[in-house]
Amino acid sequence: MAELDRTKRHAPAPKDWTYAPAPESRDVVRIAERYGNFVGGEWVEASETYATISPSSEEPLATVAQGTEADVDAAVGAARDAFANGWSELSGSERAKYLFRIARILQERSREFAVLESLNGGKPIKESRDVDLPLAAAHFFYYAGWADKLEYAFPNRRPRPVGVAGQIIPWNFPLLMLAWKVAPALACGNTVVLKPAETTPLTALLFCDVLRQAELPAGVVNIVTGDGRTGAALVEHDGVDKIAFTGSTEVGKAIQRRLAGTGKRLTLELGGKAANIVFDDSALDQAVEGIVNGIYFNQGHVCCAGSRLFVQESIYEPLVEKLKRRLTTLRVGDPLDKNTDVGAINSAMQLEKISSLVQSGVDEGAEIYQPPCRLPEKGYWFAPTVFTNVAQSYRIAQEEIFGPVLSVLAFRTPDEAVEKANNTPYGLSAGVWTEKGSRILWMAQRMRAGVVWANTFNRFDPTSPFGGYKESGFGREGGLHGLEPYLRFDDGNES
Ligand code: NAI
Ligand code: MG
Repeated sequence: MAELDRTKRHAPAPKDWTYAPAPESRDVVRIAERYGNFVGGEWVEASETYATISPSSEEPLATVAQGTEADVDAAVGAARDAFANGWSELSGSERAKYLFRIARILQERSREFAVLESLNGGKPIKESRDVDLPLAAAHFFYYAGWADKLEYAFPNRRPRPVGVAGQIIPWNFPLLMLAWKVAPALACGNTVVLKPAETTPLTALLFCDVLRQAELPAGVVNIVTGDGRTGAALVEHDGVDKIAFTGSTEVGKAIQRRLAGTGKRLTLELGGKAANIVFDDSALDQAVEGIVNGIYFNQGHVCCAGSRLFVQESIYEPLVEKLKRRLTTLRVGDPLDKNTDVGAINSAMQLEKISSLVQSGVDEGAEIYQPPCRLPEKGYWFAPTVFTNVAQSYRIAQEEIFGPVLSVLAFRTPDEAVEKANNTPYGLSAGVWTEKGSRILWMAQRMRAGVVWANTFNRFDPTSPFGGYKESGFGREGGLHGLEPYLRFDDGNES
């Protein structure tokens, strides 16, 4: 005891609480030098290519295909063949077996996928490991469960697959968005041509390996990489029966115009500018955690990010004070370090967009706060940012920034909170923090948002439908609702 006491007295107090590096090993994943497109179960050499990089170091990771119209045509052809030659006729329980297999393989190989996701996209490993991968596997498990129960899901309506689905996904949750798209499409008996985002193709390409391991019949899932031109070729292709798109409102609108009158089905999941509303009776420390998770999770590259914080006037000062203090503890840096909270910005282009919107906030008169933090020299980085003194008319309160930037505004009454929250062209998500259950329900009924979180934020579950109002798009992904876009019904009602 005496010994122990002595040691304690002499133990030097740590000067600060910095963390030792805790890097995840890159060796768990093998990246090929060069990838083609995955068409009809085979790798097809690319005629045009580009290099995909790591946004945290700008180091090239692999050469990938810039898919051409001919590549898209071959992939759609393979998907049509697979649809006609067996897949659409398989029993639901047979299709489910493949989906269960894919889910299990994703779980088994999750470490490999998590490292690759963080390398190619810049998100912290603790997020790809604890959020993206478990959720991607959960989506396959969940939709595997529906595959043989479609008749029960839609009683008396005789559900049938739609055909070939063209799926275009963004770079913020590359593998998870793939799972959101591919799992329900296959569960319903469709085949797929998927185009990953140009900055993050690698986990989708590794996924082709999983498809082979699961012995999914050739052509059921085809993957063509490339930029918006490849996406446009997929949208235009006559052999595609349905387009599912997640990305910017601008491109979503263009796709909708393009498809008008063609009879092709369309679902759009677009941008957002979510309100996160904190009432004076809420648990403030818990709310601060939710605010941080709402806007700094995945560097704010989240369509449903809580980018507009509305604080009830009586608690405005203490809450902002707590929030700023919490920001000083966020660790920004190497995505592969297990202690990192905020990783790299996904691309030079996105960094440019964030920087210019933040500059507009300063120019328009908002007050900026950024905690002291040293950003790495190489790569694309942006410090967590809070704006106070924000007017609703400022661009930072109106436009989607898609970065780690929060605008704080105040309100006095619940009515005022609702009015301000709904004052946006978007309507994807919202958050309410209060101790009163009745107020949660009152708010949820009035807010024009597809998802309303109460005393939490950015919570996802495959059983829960997700999607927007207004310029955030239409159609739902997840849950029972997420099956409908991939089915036609013999009763004549499309959905
Ligand atoms: P984007 O909408 O251009 O890209 C999303 C996907 O669409 C990518 O796979 C891209 O290759 C493809 N694409 C681009 N042009 C296309 C076209 N004409 N036809 C078919 N596919 C096309 O989004 P971008 O440029 O990467 O980001 C711009 C802004 O969009 C971001 O700053 C953010 O505000 C928003 N965004 C929203 C997302 C969401 O989850 N709702 C995801 C990504 C971006
Ligand atoms: Mg774009």
